[in-house]
Amino acid sequence: MLQMDIKNSFDLKRKVFVITGGAGLLGQKHAEAVTEGNGIPVLLDISREGLDDAVSHMKMKYGAETEISGFAADITSREDIGCARDSIIKKYGHIDGLINNAANNPKVEGGAANMKAIQFENFPLEMWMEDIAVGLTGAFLCAQVFGQAMAEQGSGVILNLSSDLGVIAPDQRIYRKKGLPDEEQPVKPVTYSVIKHGLIGLTKYLATYYAEKGIRANALCPGGVYNGQNEEFLDKLTPLIPMGRMASADEYKGTVLYLISDASSYMTGSTVIADGGRTCW
Ligand SMILES: NC(=O)c1ccc[n+]([C@@H]2O[C@H](COP(=O)([O-])OP(=O)(O)OC[C@H]3O[C@@H](n4cnc5c(N)ncnc54)[C@H](O)[C@@H]3O)[C@@H](O)[C@H]2O)c1
Repeated sequence: MLQMDIKNSFDLKRKVFVITGGAGLLGQKHAEAVTEGNGIPVLLDISREGLDDAVSHMKMKYGAETEISGFAADITSREDIGCARDSIIKKYGHIDGLINNAANNPKVEGGAANMKAIQFENFPLEMWMEDIAVGLTGAFLCAQVFGQAMAEQGSGVILNLSSDLGVIAPDQRIYRKKGLPDEEQPVKPVTYSVIKHGLIGLTKYLATYYAEKGIRANALCPGGVYNGQNEEFLDKLTPLIPMGRMASADEYKGTVLYLISDASSYMTGSTVIADGGRTCW
């Protein structure tokens, strides 16, 4: 029987974890979880400037000697991902985990006045393709390229960042803004639902496909993170959450560390929901 020391099972033992979208709000928190768990975070992001800021922030927080790397890469490009894999293997000799976290944050030209552009009836094919390219195709390509490196060594973990909106539909009423005509009301874009539900499917596929190769794959569905949203939005959202509030960005670090460490050694193909209870209602 497998004997486990519980505290020790959370120790990442200097393993290397690739975090896509590592320069973003949650990507940096996943990096903190890896560092605090005694692992080595490798950030992949399309934004070179964002990566530099994220790496400096980590060095300031954990000390100049902290092991962390940032690689500029567009995860919609297999070539970019392959180059990143080669550089990481050259530098560390191994890749032990992948956190598929990157997402497209499309800017809608013209702001609120042009929100009708993302309403379902008008949603541009181009925007559909761009969102899917990052959120789903990027996750698929990273799982393919980094998954193969992990399969070759016979161990690894994949964590896919879905969302509470990976299991429920967005309640479009909470995005509405007072005073705007119906056709200009903001909506949660259709791509968000499709990508987040799709990532749960990808997780189950990878979990079963890679089980014999010693690779586990799970999905994390976080609820919304408080990030300066306006009162009108918060007043509509928080009553939908049994805990009555959004999450702080730090509140997923424990779940992330659990899911990427040996503490979750018997979990694969799971959808873990951390949403203040929202999806229970
Ligand atoms: N923030 C939330 O409230 C929340 C809630 C639930 C789920 N999520 C999910 O968590 C993940 C992270 O969210 P976030 O709020 O930190 O987002 P974010 O926008 O702050 O970060 C996303 C990062 O992805 C990077 N990126 C975009 N396109 C890329 C590409 N082609 N190649 C490489 N990198 C690319 C961006 O540069 C950015 O740094 C997303 O998948 C998001 O959907 C977030």
